[in-house]
Amino acid sequence: MQRMLSGIKPTGELHLGNYIGALRNFVKYQEDYEMYVFIANLHTVTIPQDPKEIHKYLIDAIALYIACGLDKDKATIFLQSDVLEHANLGFILSCHSYEGELDRMTQYKDRKQKGETGLSVGFYTYPTLMAADILMYDADFVPVGDDQKQHVELARDIAERMNNRYGQMFKVPKPLIAEVGARIMDLQDPARKMSKSDQSDKGCIFLLDSPKTARKKIMSAQTDSVNIVQFDTENQPGISNLLTIYAALKEITIKEAELIFKDYRYGDFKKEVAQEVVELLEKLQSDYTEIINSDIIEKTLTKGKEKAQKIASAKLDQVLTTLGIKI
Ligand code: TYM
Repeated sequence: MQRMLSGIKPTGELHLGNYIGALRNFVKYQEDYEMYVFIANLHTVTIPQDPKEIHKYLIDAIALYIACGLDKDKATIFLQSDVLEHANLGFILSCHSYEGELDRMTQYKDRKQKGETGLSVGFYTYPTLMAADILMYDADFVPVGDDQKQHVELARDIAERMNNRYGQMFKVPKPLIAEVGARIMDLQDPARKMSKSDQSDKGCIFLLDSPKTARKKIMSAQTDSVNIVQFDTENQPGISNLLTIYAALKEITIKEAELIFKDYRYGDFKKEVAQEVVELLEKLQSDYTEIINSDIIEKTLTKGKEKAQKIASAKLDQVLTTLGIKI
């Protein structure tokens, strides 16, 4: 069975972009792949966090993983810091990466270009920790949204470089990016991707938003004056984004979604999109409440840690031995 690995960094509550671009795919793939899904808690501290807030986000993220349908008996679900080998391998990989490569990583480059100062060294090097997360498990595929493609490519480059230098050591992973929904955009500013770190949360639907709030956000999403529901990201980015959300949730193609709504007015179209989103949230939130009040999170993480750690400790051992630094 081929192996997949992915993770989410819960620096805020999970949102619809995380669900459509990543989570729903994890749930699908757990049926046919050996699936490893983790909570990237070490990645969260690359930027300053309030300890109380971040703790809640982490718990909520695990509960939402399970509420979305990830199943501890099918997938290995674990907390990154429970497997100490990640940070260890991350350091080794950072010693096999070049400054120029990290300078080119979009997230770092963007913030640098905006003149941000005081970025942590961890923020700069975190793509090498992400590479360790992936290479540790010899993953064949890494299902991610569009914005993480560059990081998976760095992991591939590091794997190839180390394989060339030391002999076969890591599987070279491939990013797996869904055709529909790999980049869900902000509802208020559809030129930007939907993100948990937005200043205003009007453009972002959080998975724990009340149905009323979510409906309101969709109904006030930015549109245009063309007045035809069609997929045209250049001239109608807002409408195209809503079509994408609908198609992804209904598991249909964008073309099929366009056909359904070709004679709709924007208001009626939005109502239908909102209804789909609300139905998803209602289902997730009812499961979330049950999960948060049970011991399922603890059980899931205990089982996941055990399984992940076996693989990770063997891989780290292999790497240390190959590098000649194990005694
Ligand atoms: P993060 O937490 O920013 O995002 C988690 C996943 O959600 C996807 N995503 C989106 N997809 C569609 N539209 C959006 N607006 C949107 N926003 C986010 C992301 O592409 C991602 O798949 N560094 C990673 C976490 C990580 C990781 C890993 C992932 C750490 N180690 C190893 C894969 C493998 C991150 O910050 O994702």
